[in-house]
Amino acid sequence: MLNYIIQGGNKLEGEVKVSGSKNASLPIIAASMLNGNQSKLYNVPTIHDIQIALKILKILGCKVKKTNNKILIDSSNITSYEIPYPLMRQMRSSVIMAGAIIGRFKNAIFSYPGGCDIGTRPIDLHLSGFRKLGINIIEEGGFIRCSCDKIIGTEIHLDFPSVGATENLMLASVYAEGETVITNAAMEPEIVDLQNFLNKMGAIVEGAGTNIIKIKGVNKLKEVSYTIMPDRIEAGTLLCSAAITGGTIELKNAIPDHISPILSKLEECGCKTEVKKDKISLIAPRKLISTEIKTLPYPGFPTDMQSIFGAMLTTAKGTSVIIETIFENRYKYTNELIRMGAKITIEGKMAIIKGVKRLSGAEVLATDLRGGAAMVIAGLQAKGKTKINNIEYILRGYENLDKKLNSIGANIKIEEGDKN
Ligand code: EPZ
Repeated sequence: MLNYIIQGGNKLEGEVKVSGSKNASLPIIAASMLNGNQSKLYNVPTIHDIQIALKILKILGCKVKKTNNKILIDSSNITSYEIPYPLMRQMRSSVIMAGAIIGRFKNAIFSYPGGCDIGTRPIDLHLSGFRKLGINIIEEGGFIRCSCDKIIGTEIHLDFPSVGATENLMLASVYAEGETVITNAAMEPEIVDLQNFLNKMGAIVEGAGTNIIKIKGVNKLKEVSYTIMPDRIEAGTLLCSAAITGGTIELKNAIPDHISPILSKLEECGCKTEVKKDKISLIAPRKLISTEIKTLPYPGFPTDMQSIFGAMLTTAKGTSVIIETIFENRYKYTNELIRMGAKITIEGKMAIIKGVKRLSGAEVLATDLRGGAAMVIAGLQAKGKTKINNIEYILRGYENLDKKLNSIGANIKIEEGDKN
């Protein structure tokens, strides 16, 4: 097990380059199985979730070569349609591979991804969408077997604008007969990135970024090179790191439009922000001001930033209120913050955070990916030393977070923990 040791109290000041997006890379890596050819991907973050996704592609028969942030994938020789159970359990978003395998081979076997630290994470919307496309689904022994002779384009309405279901249905429809229309589709920027990638391969997809996406089936897709968009959640995390320390930061390779809900909340907290083409700068006040947050599907405030703001608001002036509407179990990190002296009460979907003068360093746990990031934010401000256990969660979704923060004044070390 690995831990972070953070000496808190330093003001962060400087420039950081944002890495490529984890949540855009994963569906695009899945989509690279569609063309039966080469896909060259640039700006892919070197993080654990990407390693798992590439491991699945290799097991299915793809040739994969990764050099730093560039990945070369050759999907001409896929020999299996079964996503290995242990990898499904390790990363629930591997369900996204199913849509691509079904889309190309009309066959796929995978298992229920299982819940994770932030909620049950059902896939009913994925499966009901597959059925509407004419895919037969047999669920037995925890496995889901999908098969059909052909995929027929149709209209699919999503009861909830699920990001994964939207992406999976796009992937399953690219070779369908006729047109598929997804209504109440998720509008996240990662879906626009997936549409751009698919169209560069020769697919005909339009409407991503709105709640109606149309996919016209084609017969062939070609090789492609593509650069992944920057990670908007990493950008928000870095801004909040500077904000809680009363510092300043300039982000390079960030897209302001992707994080407008985050920027407006940071301004409500008293920060000054400035945006240029692909740069975002922030100057924090000596003391942040409390605010109210309600997480919503894009373009609302992102649920992935909820815990990070929760940590940042522990030392803001006044009382903040957060309402989490997307996942049912995304407040586990608050118990760890309370160990550091935070004043937080949870009432159902609501977290009430009463600002305290300063947190004090303690030994805490990373409860999940974004909960772990929240503990880093808290440790940067806390008095004394904070030890964060289980940072493997954080390494799943952030590339070199400690190095990036140390480059602008933080004091974070990684240590080997006990082997359990
Ligand atoms: C994606 O997860 C992201 N992951 C999540 O980021 C993000 O929090 C989430 O979208 C919401 O923005 C990736 O892109 C890899 P959903 P996903 O389907 O696709 C319910 C991170 O920290 N739902 O939009 O799994 C579901 O239970 C991760 O980077 C159904 O009920 O999210 C949840 O309550 C965490 N049935 C809500 O919808 C379904 O079939 C949103 O889920 C599917 C989803």
